[in-house]
Amino acid sequence: MNDQKKDSAIPRRQFIKYSAATGAGLILSSQALAQTKSTNSDDLNIALLGVGAEGQVLLNDMLKIPGIRFRAVCDIWKKWNLRRASRLLKKYGHDVNSYIDYRDMLAHEKDLDGIIIATPDFWHSEHTIACLEAGINVYCEKEMSNTIEGAKRMVRAAVRTGKLLQIGHQRRSNPRYRFSYNKLIKEADLLGRITTTNGQWNRAVQPDLGWPKKYAVEPSVLSKYGFKSMHQFRNWRWYKGLGGGPIVDLGSHQIDIYNWFLETNPKTVMASGGTDYYPPKTHQWYDTVMVLFEYDTKYGKVRAYYQTLTTNSNEGYFETFMGDQGTLNISESASRGGVYREPSAPSWDKWVDMGYLLAPKEEKKEDTGVILDVRETLAPPAHELPVKMNVPYHLPHLENFFNAIRGKEKLNCPYNIGYETAVTVLKVNEAVEKGTRLNYRPDEFEI
Ligand SMILES: NC(=O)c1ccc[n+]([C@@H]2O[C@H](COP(=O)([O-])OP(=O)(O)OC[C@H]3O[C@@H](n4cnc5c(N)ncnc54)[C@H](O)[C@@H]3O)[C@@H](O)[C@H]2O)c1
Repeated sequence: MNDQKKDSAIPRRQFIKYSAATGAGLILSSQALAQTKSTNSDDLNIALLGVGAEGQVLLNDMLKIPGIRFRAVCDIWKKWNLRRASRLLKKYGHDVNSYIDYRDMLAHEKDLDGIIIATPDFWHSEHTIACLEAGINVYCEKEMSNTIEGAKRMVRAAVRTGKLLQIGHQRRSNPRYRFSYNKLIKEADLLGRITTTNGQWNRAVQPDLGWPKKYAVEPSVLSKYGFKSMHQFRNWRWYKGLGGGPIVDLGSHQIDIYNWFLETNPKTVMASGGTDYYPPKTHQWYDTVMVLFEYDTKYGKVRAYYQTLTTNSNEGYFETFMGDQGTLNISESASRGGVYREPSAPSWDKWVDMGYLLAPKEEKKEDTGVILDVRETLAPPAHELPVKMNVPYHLPHLENFFNAIRGKEKLNCPYNIGYETAVTVLKVNEAVEKGTRLNYRPDEFEI
């Protein structure tokens, strides 16, 4: 944390060089390979820092990936999450050491190739920087940080140490998303001039998270790690200074896709939101947010709508990209998604023949003798994506991180992408608070 002065001495050119190297893949990766301490094999020594809900999802996925040797697990909730994760790993034959404090872990574990960080957002910066400084490649969950300053320090530490830093926007490694961008949008140009996007994450009302009373964390431990109470420890996402609220927690995954598919960051943001439903004392961040971004893309102006609701789950979560030739509807939920041709666009038969799209299923329309409304007759049929997602959602992103450590792949979500997404979403909260349209300066996306 106190490295900031040293950090700011890194010339901008060097940052660009490293960003470009990450983008181009091999330079950073081969450097990381040389630094990998597991010699003579592709096996990697891995530690886990934070094994709550998400840490356990990642752990379960990693147990399916060959060549991963778990060495350590660290979590301040000793009697519950730490114990559960350590037991599970031992059951699967991993000889892991357990730690409560990450500093103890880093002092004792000297042969780690990578670490998976899934602690609450306000810890990401400190944890990531300490691990990078210890020479360990880091996979850090989103949101990269709950503050821009924290995210900046992470970027600087990655540049300084030359270690890999992957941010947990796992859609970046999802084969359906990669296919949609690389093949359908870029190569086949099926959407034509993209004019608008629309996306949402609507979630049903949920009770606050509880905890097994006999396993509560001691107040002294809570306070040492920045939590005022067990309620805050369990529901940290809703508290200012700890998380960023639903628009950051949920929205950042999907707004990251806007930036990716539109190939640029937004120029402006307007937002309306508030704590309309939950008690503001325990839900300090907005439970409802509606956002309008403006992008100046290579296609021209794109207006991008996004909403997070936490009071109603209608239609769940998805992103839709609309162009003058077609529409792509995509979601991490593997069961949904489709591509729709505008009636005026040229035939897509060629793309179906080439395997880019599945042919639309013919809907059998009963002849009722009723004259259909003109809008109904124009409703385009859906082409399904030919790419399936048959593995758990986080698995490809974790594999990508491990393969980057081995020097075999470039990272799909390196720190520069995570940073740009953090800048984009953290400003939405500012726009809600100020109630006015805000501009993104191009230099805000740079360090
Ligand atoms: N990529 C995704 O789809 C996805 C999904 C859910 C959560 N997440 C991210 O994962 C992270 C964790 O979220 P969660 O839902 O698992 O939260 P959680 O509260 O369930 O788990 C956090 C864990 O970190 C531990 N912890 C807290 N402070 C610590 C510290 N200083 N040192 C060590 N351990 C500490 C807690 O004891 C707990 O076990 C967050 O950053 C969240 O945004 C990502």
